[in-house]
Amino acid sequence: MKKSAALWLVALFAFSWTAGVGATAAAVSVPDGYRVEREKQWFLLRHWLSGGVVVREAASAAPMPDESLRRLGAELFGVYCANCHGKQGRGDGPRAAALQPPPRDFTAGLFKFRSTPSGSLPTRDDLFHTLSGGLRGTAMMPFADLAEIERWALVEQVLALAAARQGDAAAALTLPSAAGRAEEGKALYVKLECASCHGERGRGDGSSAAALEDWRGRPLPPPDFATRPFKRGQSADDVYLTLATGLDGTAMPAYGEVATPTELRDLAAWVLSLKQEVSLEAGAVEQAEARAVMQAQASQGSHAVVGRCGCKARRAASQARAGAAPAQGGCGKSEDCAAGKGCGAASACGQ
Ligand code: HEC
Ligand code: HEC
Repeated sequence: MKKSAALWLVALFAFSWTAGVGATAAAVSVPDGYRVEREKQWFLLRHWLSGGVVVREAASAAPMPDESLRRLGAELFGVYCANCHGKQGRGDGPRAAALQPPPRDFTAGLFKFRSTPSGSLPTRDDLFHTLSGGLRGTAMMPFADLAEIERWALVEQVLALAAARQGDAAAALTLPSAAGRAEEGKALYVKLECASCHGERGRGDGSSAAALEDWRGRPLPPPDFATRPFKRGQSADDVYLTLATGLDGTAMPAYGEVATPTELRDLAAWVLSLKQEVSLEAGAVEQAEARAVMQAQASQGSHAVVGRCGCKARRAASQARAGAAPAQGGCGKSEDCAAGKGCGAASACGQ
């Protein structure tokens, strides 16, 4: 481990300790080389791409936000999130144009994945879940390998970016414990007219599907439940929250007011039963899409996390500037690597 990284870890430990008991921590900054240290840990992304489960829950409660946590959040946001979400969180980072669905504009204050009523901000735990576990089938990757305190800091930064919309914090709804009954849910699916958008068997082929848009008028059709993973997560609780609170900024309404918790449990069970038709083959296609996005990011040298070996991307970029064709393959010989700027894990390069 590089000396700077070791110092950083010590600083981070001290910071998490003091933040945890509410004291004011000393200023924290991200030294050079820190980002590179994380790139060596690309295994999380590979694990996620191959369908692996990522733990989203925090072991610790959200720390009291203070100046130091906010500063850390702002810095980490620049390192890990700005490429897609933009420096100011407006959803306009360098990678944004290539992504479908596009990265969220946090300043609009519209959040899809909440445990809070439609129209309100998500809880800190909601945001922690999203950024720890990622959103399946989109470019929003998991960040569960960041230290918890860093993830809480990023949560603060997302909330700060949405500050214009910030009202009273809404309470999270409680999840019913009863198991859902798919047969009952099937009747509700008909009664609540889910099929008008999702289609009778949830294949994303309802009569109005093709016309559906997001809040900015960009096309956003419903997913094919049979073949696509759910963005929020694949558990009954995940689907329950989607049904109860809706996906703000999309055509997906909230049903918390029109159906009882028991009914929504049943409905979630029915929706999940449609998903059981997912074949591994379809999963593989899904992963290939995500992988292509990441490879594109790596080759453009514009992503802080997925490039694994930053050298390859940097070398391609400098060759492109010099008018030469970017070289293929590993990065062991690039000047950047020789200078130790990111190829510590040379054996892992070129993957
Ligand atoms: C490779 C691109 C990419 C990176 C890097 C990225 N995101 Fe995202 N993010 C997305 C996309 C795309 C979406 C939108 C998914 C959707 O709308 O279905 C998204 C959505 C989100 C949401 C969902 C908000 C909601 O609607 O509930 C949060 C929160 C979020 N990102 C936080 C972050 C944070 C924090 C970071 C950095 C640690 C980050 N993202 C890094 C692409 C990215
Ligand atoms: C007016 C159209 C419309 C109706 C009606 C509708 N949905 Fe949706 N639904 C959508 C759209 C659009 C999306 C995709 C949003 C996205 O990907 O950001 C969606 C997404 C979903 C998801 C996926 C969530 C995830 O994590 O990816 C589920 C589950 C879902 N809907 C269930 C239902 C059920 C059950 C009903 C009926 C009670 C219903 N929807 C009614 C439009 C609709």
